[in-house]
Amino acid sequence: MVIKKIAVLFSGSGSNLEKILENVHCKIFSTCKIEIACLICNKKDAYGIQRAKKYGLETTIIEHINYDDRESFDKKMVEIIKKSGAELVVLAGFMRILTPEFTKNVNAINLHPSLLPLFKGAHAIEESYNSDMKVGGISIHYVSEELDGGEIIEQECFKKEDGMTLEEFRAKIHALEHKLLPKTIVDILDKN
Ligand code: GAR
Repeated sequence: MVIKKIAVLFSGSGSNLEKILENVHCKIFSTCKIEIACLICNKKDAYGIQRAKKYGLETTIIEHINYDDRESFDKKMVEIIKKSGAELVVLAGFMRILTPEFTKNVNAINLHPSLLPLFKGAHAIEESYNSDMKVGGISIHYVSEELDGGEIIEQECFKKEDGMTLEEFRAKIHALEHKLLPKTIVDILDKN
């Protein structure tokens, strides 16, 4: 059985990490078994760390505040990812801007809570909720040097109902993310 290893990077709650743990980690697919070989978080109190512990996985905490610049922080992450043997890096709510030190050295995908190329950056949910658009959505894309700008792999959208609150809008986004991210990881890796 071919084992394909992934790294997951997160910064906060880790609800998407939990879906990967539930639906992808140590599961056997048509051509391979997929394992999380490396978990990295840049916030020592992130709830995702507890979620990973339930599955017996330790998270490496690399706090960006302890690094002089973005490049040295990225270099440290790349070093740990390479050591783990992960062939795909999944950014699941990882809230740091990455430099070429990272983007040129690993194959990574990012989950973003808007229909890219609209609403790039850290406030995508609020901005798309407050926009005139009649739909909201999510994107998964390859990570490139341009923030939220790499090749789009998958997108899904939903209708913004009249009177929908921000919390309802956010919940709809998360529900789509929780299905699409695990599926996309498997689609990328489960092939000959
Ligand atoms: C997700 O909604 C993800 O799309 C977003 O952070 C959230 C993480 O939730 N990512 C970005 O905004 C990246 N720019 P989680 O910690 O519960 O998985």
